[in-house]
Amino acid sequence: MADEVIKQRKLEHINVALAQSIAVAQPANWSDIHFVHQALPEVNLDEIDTRVTFFGQTLRYPLLISSMTGGHPDVISINRNLARAAEEYGIAMGVGSQRAAIINPAVSYSYAVVRECAPNAFLIANIGAPQLIEQAQHPAFSMQQVQDAIKMIEANALAVHMNSLQEAAQPEGDRRAVGEVEALKRLTQQIDRPVIAKETGAGICQEQAMLLRACGVAAIDVGGAGGSSMSAVEAARSELHGDKKTLEIGKLYSDWGIPTPIAIVEAQAAHLPLIATGGVRSGLDVARALALGANLVGMAFPFLRAASESYERVCEVLENTIREMKVAMQLSGAANIAQLHTADVVVTGATREWLTLRGFEDDLKAMAQKQRRYGHKAFLDLT
Ligand SMILES: Cc1cc2nc3c(=O)[nH]c(=O)nc-3n(C[C@H](O)[C@H](O)[C@H](O)COP(=O)(O)O)c2cc1C
Repeated sequence: MADEVIKQRKLEHINVALAQSIAVAQPANWSDIHFVHQALPEVNLDEIDTRVTFFGQTLRYPLLISSMTGGHPDVISINRNLARAAEEYGIAMGVGSQRAAIINPAVSYSYAVVRECAPNAFLIANIGAPQLIEQAQHPAFSMQQVQDAIKMIEANALAVHMNSLQEAAQPEGDRRAVGEVEALKRLTQQIDRPVIAKETGAGICQEQAMLLRACGVAAIDVGGAGGSSMSAVEAARSELHGDKKTLEIGKLYSDWGIPTPIAIVEAQAAHLPLIATGGVRSGLDVARALALGANLVGMAFPFLRAASESYERVCEVLENTIREMKVAMQLSGAANIAQLHTADVVVTGATREWLTLRGFEDDLKAMAQKQRRYGHKAFLDLT
């Protein structure tokens, strides 16, 4: 019974996302992040080096297809299209929550297809923090079940998604959260892959980044607000199921959270590799996220929409994103990603206001004056 509910939910998430607007009302405010234009950049557009190293693996681009799906036979073609593109472009990819297959191994192939189509890509397994503890409707996952999820896709890393907002807005959601910190600590001690703590649209603040570091995670995906809202997805599902209480929660909280650019700055306190996901909608946004301090940049919905059409459409999204990112790199004088990390960025508007009130004035100043202070060669490779 429970396995059927979860399997059906995975399909509903995809159908709702594709059919309705799940973008939050409040954008990520990427336009608050400005590069300082270099009139004589001394960088050839066609010779820009976009490679990065992430946990020992070289990626051709600092891009990630964010965790979305698996768990139902109808989504196999989406994961296949995404994985083929990840392999072709040498980028990273995450699968959606593997809870459906942990409970019902019959749907494992909807995830395993990703490794089949992307034998060399950096792949990230996915489980939820709420499922690491006992809930009203189910026991905690065992360590063996987590290991099985990693094995299912021969994952290079494991993402533990943190989605308290989504669970609160979900008719059948897991409402308990006490014990997740201890469970995460135990997990990072026992799993032999890097564990990435991943928010799913509400962002990570400085204090939570430090807590995650203390839990032993190897990287943080800040999963900020300003893009797809899992709360809006659940509101649409609540409507479908006639659950008025969670419908109101889902609507009310659809723009809750820390916008992605802010979360990138806040989470740097942990000194861990950072993934920036949430509302990234162009190659310029990708470049902005990297210049702010992200090591990898993830997109979910734009890839989902493309993959629901074809593999070729996913490649088109990637080509456009890469072309746009390279222009930002050239115009800020960055011939490679290390140099992009040392490009000056001026932060204005609501993003600046938030960061100033939160005590990041000195960091904002340092970001706007990196060149004067360090020059292009001072990049610190955190991975
Ligand atoms: C349909 C859909 C399903 C998702 N499922 C998962 C999931 O199972 N696990 C997870 O960690 N994140 C999941 N996410 C969140 C994304 O990975 C990402 O953090 C979020 O969509 C923000 O990125 P975007 O604005 O580029 O879409 C999902 C997102 C969408 C749109």
